[in-house]
Amino acid sequence: MATPYTPIQSSALSIAALAAMLTLGQSAQANEALAQKNNCLGCHAVATKLVGPAYKEVAAKYAGQVDAQARVMESIRNGSVGKWGELPMPPHSKISDADLKKLATWVLSAK
Ligand code: HEC
Repeated sequence: MATPYTPIQSSALSIAALAAMLTLGQSAQANEALAQKNNCLGCHAVATKLVGPAYKEVAAKYAGQVDAQARVMESIRNGSVGKWGELPMPPHSKISDADLKKLATWVLSAK
């Protein structure tokens, strides 16, 4: 009896799923643009080590740590040395807290 409605329900569901995927995709792209704008990608890539560690390695290292976002924001703002190797990351003191938060969230979600 209910079967005539099933196709309508499932297409409504997939539209919602598509909308969610688009939103996620857009914010990931916006954060990548932010990383580009701040020259992060001159030293980092998501999947490979360049001058600095690959973002997916950073995400793996901090996975499950409650204060991960705050610690990564501090590292980006104040610079970092000795956590990943000999080379230091220079400080980025001009990036706003809101942007630091977006960058940290983006890095920590890298796969
Ligand atoms: C001049 C090259 C350079 C630039 C530019 C740079 N990084 Fe780094 N980054 C590094 C190096 C080298 C390390 C490893 C530092 C260490 O061993 O402690 C690092 C480490 C990191 C870490 C790991 C920190 C931790 O606490 O484990 C994150 C996250 C990060 N960078 C994000 C960024 C973001 C976001 C930007 C742009 C705003 C950026 N980096 C720009 C070279 C760079």
